[in-house]
Amino acid sequence: MTTTLISGGTVVSATGRSQADVLIDGERIAAVLAPSSTLLGVDLATSVDTVIDATGKYVIPGAIDAHTHMEMPFGGTFASDTFETGTTAAAWGGTTTIVDFVVQYAGEQPLEQFAKWHEKAAGNCAIDYGFHQILSDVQDSSLSAMDELVGEGVSSFKLFMAYKGVFLSDDGQIVKAMQRAADNGAMIMMHAENGSVIDLLVQQAVGRGDTAPYFHGLTRPWQVEEEATHRAIMLADLTGAPLYVVHVSAKQAAEQIMQARDRGQNVFGETCPQYLYLSLEEQLGAPGFEGAKWVCSTPLRSRAEGHQDHMWRALRTNDLQVVSTDHCPFCMKGQKDMGIGDFSKIPNGIGGVEHRLDLLYQGVVTGQITLERWVELCSTTPARMFGLYGTKGVIAPGADADVVVYDPNGHTSIGVGKTHHMNMDYSAYEGFEIDGHVDTVLSRGTVVVDGGTFLGRAGHGRYVRRGLSQYLL
Ligand code: URP
Ligand code: ZN
Ligand code: ZN
Ligand code: ZN
Repeated sequence: MTTTLISGGTVVSATGRSQADVLIDGERIAAVLAPSSTLLGVDLATSVDTVIDATGKYVIPGAIDAHTHMEMPFGGTFASDTFETGTTAAAWGGTTTIVDFVVQYAGEQPLEQFAKWHEKAAGNCAIDYGFHQILSDVQDSSLSAMDELVGEGVSSFKLFMAYKGVFLSDDGQIVKAMQRAADNGAMIMMHAENGSVIDLLVQQAVGRGDTAPYFHGLTRPWQVEEEATHRAIMLADLTGAPLYVVHVSAKQAAEQIMQARDRGQNVFGETCPQYLYLSLEEQLGAPGFEGAKWVCSTPLRSRAEGHQDHMWRALRTNDLQVVSTDHCPFCMKGQKDMGIGDFSKIPNGIGGVEHRLDLLYQGVVTGQITLERWVELCSTTPARMFGLYGTKGVIAPGADADVVVYDPNGHTSIGVGKTHHMNMDYSAYEGFEIDGHVDTVLSRGTVVVDGGTFLGRAGHGRYVRRGLSQYLL
């Protein structure tokens, strides 16, 4: 087994930082030691196989992206990143675990879909991966499948209150799934937007000739997000199921989550970098068809209304607990362009799996969040939320050696054109200049990214069986 010492760095956790060396034995962390430690009088640095010099850098647990959609069949096409390209891009950005979504459309069997997603991912991932399961229609057989899936390490189920005829579950179906989750301990993840109202507003807008990408945002106003978030919270309260609201973008929806938490309910919320940095006015409202690059749901919100600032605040106060990417990339050419002349035909989704750690680090640079909160939002809480903590999300003896050496004095340009590794023909963050740089990435003890070189391989990543949430109130 290979031994590695990451020496001279500042080890940062969700609760503090210290000068320490990290000793890795094979795939696991063996010890976190005082700098320049000796073993039986011998300098450790001379007795290990490899030394990684982290002087002046942060040493953090590998980031966990709990919301990705690799090669997802959606909007008449497939998300453009495969498990191979998407996990490779993730590794470049310091993400060492993804939790992706198995898709079950109406009429399909959840367990059969779970087996298909295993086939898609197995042997193709550069980093470790787990699965959530999407349920659309909630059949009686889906309920027993939920129990079986929990046993397979799928301890969370995503339901949709939008996309009628595609994913939408009605309130009765939602309650059925929540009752089962209350019973077996699983987390219910909710896409909270009122689909019936959206469908009407979309039909009216297209009928009026308002067909530009900007109208994607106007036809999914914050009220439909707040209403659905509130409804989901009430149904979760009724059934006793824990609830995790995905991709929160409206400040009013975040307030609903905050109020539920203040009442003591097991309700949690996730936002995404796009809702922290991008807006209805600047991106969705770009001239011509440009705005299609940023069509996703929930939509980018108005900066004038203050949603982005509120998301940062909610992350500071723990009204929201996690930042994931909702990575669901589509190229402009051949995919997004299906919606020229009708925004409702633009496949919904933004890619960003490579950039989350860097983008969130800018919040540390500007003082919006602390260094420790950065680690907590990107790694530790996703691990706890989704039953991975101990193995992932922490630098401690016995944990998987998923480690990122982050250089606060480095610089990353998300340039114009293809300066990233995701399979997209544009970047949603084109032109962003990042203070900080992902220097070295280890996945289970193997260096997969070293400076500017990718050393990983498809097939290194393994399926991780998750336990129940370790974050419940
Ligand atoms: O627009 C989005 N968010 N696409 C991915 C699917 C989903 O709803 O998360
Ligand atoms: Zn969603
Ligand atoms: Zn999603
Ligand atoms: Zn660097």
